[in-house]
Amino acid sequence: MTSPSAALALVEEAAPPVLEVKAAPAPVKGFNQETVLQVKHWTDKLFSFRTTRDQAFRFENGQFVMIGLMVDGKPLLRAYSIVSANYEDHLEFLSIKVPDGPLTSRLQHIKQGDTIIMSRKPTGTLLINNLKPGKRLYLLCTGTGFAPFGSIIRDPETYERFEDVIVVYGCRNIAELAYGTQSVMEVRESEYLGEIAEKQLRYYTTVTREPYYRQGRITTLIENGKLFSDLGVPALDPEQDRVMICGSPQMFIDLRTILEKRGFGEGNNSEPGDYVVEKAFAER
Ligand code: A2P
Repeated sequence: MTSPSAALALVEEAAPPVLEVKAAPAPVKGFNQETVLQVKHWTDKLFSFRTTRDQAFRFENGQFVMIGLMVDGKPLLRAYSIVSANYEDHLEFLSIKVPDGPLTSRLQHIKQGDTIIMSRKPTGTLLINNLKPGKRLYLLCTGTGFAPFGSIIRDPETYERFEDVIVVYGCRNIAELAYGTQSVMEVRESEYLGEIAEKQLRYYTTVTREPYYRQGRITTLIENGKLFSDLGVPALDPEQDRVMICGSPQMFIDLRTILEKRGFGEGNNSEPGDYVVEKAFAER
């Protein structure tokens, strides 16, 4: 018969190797600390990462939150839209990599098991409740501006409120579209939303700086009408259409001008409107 201590030795030998046990980080007053679960690099300028989610952290789909790292003993934070939906038990973010950006030059090196800090107060205007009822919902975005729409297309209420949900995504290069494309595919293939998204979610992409089957800025495609003829829908109409915009500051100024000219009124957290905007929070 094996003695108890020999049995323990056998168990210990059979146990998987312990890789690395990181000491729990010291608490940072006023912030949650989340563990990085997964990091994926999409291009040399774009990466996404997934973290744990504090059970007490609540948000509305489309909101953003301040996240960052402790640098020299101080929190260094930037605003990031939450890409995952508010019913998921993790949080996901999409980030640009700026070589000399104070945060992203560091954040781009995070690995599974690292800790990031996060404010406890999400906020933002890209909420479907900030829009009046309508038939079609356009989600117009460029670059990392896709992020809040990842959350909105995962929200079942979006499809209850709008018959057609159309993501219009513009990037400089084809490779930069990949994260958005994968998110849309995930929704279409999901058990929860797949059937409804198959009917109601459309995905329209355009590229500006290399050959692609569809080219041109979103603003150009709206003004020359190609967006609508490609989709087989009438031109933008404030009676029926609602719009959310997230992209570079100049892009949202230009789109706002186009929409206001067509009679669209802006919504915000106190009064719903025909369209809502948010800057993509890229570090420059
Ligand atoms: P372009 O290549 O013509 O500048 P960025 O990486 O600079 O944020 O740009 C992402 C995408 O947004 C690019 O396709 C870019 O086109 C486009 N873009 C930049 N400025 C505007 C704007 N004012 N209106 C519409 N699209 C824009």
